[in-house]
Amino acid sequence: MINAYSDLIFMKYITIGKTGVYSSIMALGAMTFGETNSWKLGGLNQEIVTKMVKKAIDYGINLFDTADVYDYGESEKTLGIALKGYRDKVLIATKVRGQMSNSINDVGLSRYHIKLSIKESLRRLDTSWVDIYQLHGWDSHVPLNETIETMQDLVEDGLVNYPGVSNLSAWQIATINARCEERGYSRYETAQMNYSLLNRDIEHEVIPYLNYSGMTLMAWSPLHGGILTGKYGKDGKAGRGTRMGDRGYFFPFFDQEKGYVIVDTVKEVAEEQGVKPSQIALAWLIARKLIIIIGARTMEQFEENLASLDIQLTREQIKKLDEISSYKEMYPNWMIRRQNSSDRDFHII
Ligand SMILES: NC(=O)c1ccc[n+]([C@@H]2O[C@H](COP(=O)([O-])OP(=O)(O)OC[C@H]3O[C@@H](n4cnc5c(N)ncnc54)[C@H](OP(=O)(O)O)[C@@H]3O)[C@@H](O)[C@H]2O)c1
Repeated sequence: MINAYSDLIFMKYITIGKTGVYSSIMALGAMTFGETNSWKLGGLNQEIVTKMVKKAIDYGINLFDTADVYDYGESEKTLGIALKGYRDKVLIATKVRGQMSNSINDVGLSRYHIKLSIKESLRRLDTSWVDIYQLHGWDSHVPLNETIETMQDLVEDGLVNYPGVSNLSAWQIATINARCEERGYSRYETAQMNYSLLNRDIEHEVIPYLNYSGMTLMAWSPLHGGILTGKYGKDGKAGRGTRMGDRGYFFPFFDQEKGYVIVDTVKEVAEEQGVKPSQIALAWLIARKLIIIIGARTMEQFEENLASLDIQLTREQIKKLDEISSYKEMYPNWMIRRQNSSDRDFHII
């Protein structure tokens, strides 16, 4: 019984980057919102979106993540309607970069497109500002200065509180922040990246940079699109009415051979704890200092995922999950670790 957890769930909050604003450690992702269901990700209608958003707020979630491209604007629209009356109590994060129409300039991070996109996002969300406005990826066709100058204008015009990034490499994020610092621009405070037991790649470069710079990680697809629920068979087949079944392919990509061993381990830990595999996968992330963006197609999934806040993994269980999902440490990381872990220990008391 999911509701048996309800009274026990206790939301925690962390500050966003080096700002003074607090976000719940769990955010609700709106990628499944929008009845048109253009991306075959859920197609949630207004009624269920409103119910889900209201429940999220009741449980202390104050950050909602969407993007212009999610269901081509329908996600922002339904989220905006669901947040009516709550705008002053929540944080809205949305994104820009994706292609919104066939027009050659309706894509990317040019001044033209960013200015057009924020106007459209604000209209759809029915708000006068966005709390976190994220570059949805790198745009190699546009000079970086054009992008950061435009983002700064949005901050100065009061349309955006904090700039953020998504799907960028560490050197790209570091370059953006270095240029912003030189020019006295607002820092980029958040990095939204794919992070789950099935993909720990960002531990090589991105996470060390985020820790160094004090940015906050927002983990997208924490269940790796549903694979970490354990509902998909090793034959790679997926039934209708599931994300992978409806779309015909697995996304985010993952190493299937290693991946199913990880899923089996998640299932073992779930059995030990008497909970669902999905809840173990989420609890593993929650134990890290980040914001986890959950996604759901049904209220039942949403409630199950919320309840993962209440799970305490033992040290042994965390170690088991860490080890099975670990990756090969890359050079120069192992050299940096070696040089910095021991060479002065002898002298420091
Ligand atoms: N920045 C980016 O590029 C980017 C990319 C992707 C996502 N995101 C953000 O991250 C958010 C979360 O991503 P996501 O939706 O991919 O998260 P996810 O948690 O990895 O996958 C969610 C999907 O898994 C299935 N699921 C979830 N909970 C379940 C449960 N308890 N039992 C069984 N199935 C369950 C549902 O799909 P089915 O029922 O349909 O199988 C659900 O739609 C998005 O809403 C978006 O805000 C950002």
